[in-house]
This record gives sequence, structure tokens and C-alpha cells, in this order.
Amino acid sequence: MNVSLLVPDRAETGDREEFERAVVAGLARTPRAIPPKFLYDARGSELFDAICELPEYYLTRTETGILTECTAELARLAGPGCTLIEFGSGSSVKTRLLLDAMPDLAAYVPIDISRQHLDATAARLRRDYPRLRVEPVCADYMALDALPVDLNGGDVNGVPRLGFFPGSTIGNLEPEEATSFLRRARTLLGDRGALVLGVDLKKDPQRLHDAYNDSAGVTAAFTLNLLRRMNRELGATFDLTGFAHDAGYDPVEGRIEIYFRSLRPQTVTVAGRAFTFAEGERVHTEYSYKYDDAGIAALARSAGFTIDRTWTDPARLFAVVYLEAAP
Ligand code: TRP
Repeated sequence: MNVSLLVPDRAETGDREEFERAVVAGLARTPRAIPPKFLYDARGSELFDAICELPEYYLTRTETGILTECTAELARLAGPGCTLIEFGSGSSVKTRLLLDAMPDLAAYVPIDISRQHLDATAARLRRDYPRLRVEPVCADYMALDALPVDLNGGDVNGVPRLGFFPGSTIGNLEPEEATSFLRRARTLLGDRGALVLGVDLKKDPQRLHDAYNDSAGVTAAFTLNLLRRMNRELGATFDLTGFAHDAGYDPVEGRIEIYFRSLRPQTVTVAGRAFTFAEGERVHTEYSYKYDDAGIAALARSAGFTIDRTWTDPARLFAVVYLEAAP
């Protein structure tokens, strides 16, 4: 277990140094890239919530519709009295659909990287679900091998664990990372475990493009918030008018690629180091992989899960799958 996860407010203190190291290393390499988790500071998490409301961003709406239809069956599959564990809980809005359908959960464990978001969300849930045991964990779920909370004296198989990984966040991982995350989740959820996974499906490229290039510019603000965060936390000198959000679909890779792009030749200082950008040069921030049925099946199999059930919307934009730990 990673002991540093037990230190309170790690997200506010130790993370500044981690952020600095990641940014300096990411800007020094070719091609340049900054890990996506740094998009989600308090403001970034707020902007992401706003993205979920955009008319072009069909993912959240569609997944919510599917969940609304399937939670009763899902609760039946999971059985009574399990522990619900959410990887990257954000505002836990979709989770409420599960909480409403599963009134007898042993506990709900939201895992999120933003301490502020996590605490506010936990407080709201405790208010609205007074009988629910809420055990928030402030951590990067990609680096989590065990839960730093006492559930059944640490026996992963004591009470069945149901994982929840919605929002097609799995698509933000490269295929090898997605497999290793799911393998880790398989271990953490135990032999009686199951995982509810939300996956965005391959579709008309224009539709995909529009979802990441909204006309109100919220997605652009989300990307550029990373520059603002580097300026604030690392004393960087990014001119926010000198860079633009850049997102497009690559049909060969089957993924949306997200960058910020330099609009002119310029030099930026970060943590006392100068980085020169050519006009048009891009810094990668995130991928969003899109899957088809075969891809989801291969991914599940590679990580020791079997697909028990798949739900989709009538237009097949999005899928919610119920994975069970393979014996
Ligand atoms: N899981 C979300 C997705 O892939 C994350 C996301 C949505 C996102 N919009 C974004 C990430 C814009 C970066 C930039 O759809």
C-alpha cells in the first residue's frame, strides 16, 4: 500500500512538487505531453462538470439515460449488501442512480484526486443518504493497489465489492494502461467483485469531433485551465492568448487527441526553466479512446473479467457493461 495516501491533504502539498516534476519532464521530452490528471484541479473539475452539460457532449446524458434504465437489473446482478467503490468520483452525480437502486450498501468509497471536490461531494452524500457509510479516499486511482480504509479488516473477499468507473474514463487511458488499470481493479475488487464500466462507442467522426470542440468554448477553457494552473502553482509564464485548445479524431487509432497548441513562436518559463515553442507546436494533454464491442470484450478478457451484460442507448452511442471477476 502507498503510505503517502494516508497523509491528509497530500493533494494540496506534496502534489505541487509532483506537478512541477511532471510538467518539467513533460515539456522537456519529444513529443511534449502533460499527464491528464493535472487537468482536474478545483477549477478544472468544475469546468469538467460544465462540459458534461454541453449540448455537443452526448456522453454524460447518454450514459445517465442508460443507467436510469438498468440500475434495477444491475442491483439484482450485484446482490444485496455490497461495497460500492468509485474510481474518479468527481461530483458523484451518476452514482446517485446506483445509490437509489441499492439502499442496503455496506459502504460507498469514492476515490478522487481533488480533495476539495471529494470533501464537498462526501458532505452532500452524507446529508442526502444519512444511513450510508461514506469512506472518501483522496488518491490517484491509477496508483492505488489497496484501499487505505478499513473495510472488513482488509479482507477483499469478505463483502462483495462493486466497482464503478463511468464516464468513459477508461478511454482516457492508453490500451496497455487500460488493461493494467483493470487488472489492478480486478485485484482490488476481489474474487467476488464486479465492475460497472461506462464506455464511449465508435461512431460518426463529426459527432465525436463536436463533442470535444463545443461552440461555447467550455472544453477550450478546460484545456487552457491547465496553463492557468501552471502559472499559478509553478510560477509559469504562459500567455493564455498565445495558445489554443486543439482536439481531433484519429480514425486509425480510434481516439480523440487533445492538445494545447502554440499560436506563435514563443518562450515560456516554468520553474525557472525556459521552453521554446514553434508556431503550431502542440503539447498533448489527453486521449479519449473509443471502443467497439470486440474491443471492449478483448479489454475485459485481458484483465481477468468476463462481460456479464451490456446495455446501450438506441442509437448505440455509449455502452455500460457489467464485468465479473473471472474465476
Ligand atoms: N472521459 C472524458 C472523455 O473522454 C474526459 C473528457 C471530456 C475530456 N472532455 C474532455 C478530457 C476534454 C480532456 C478534454 O470524454
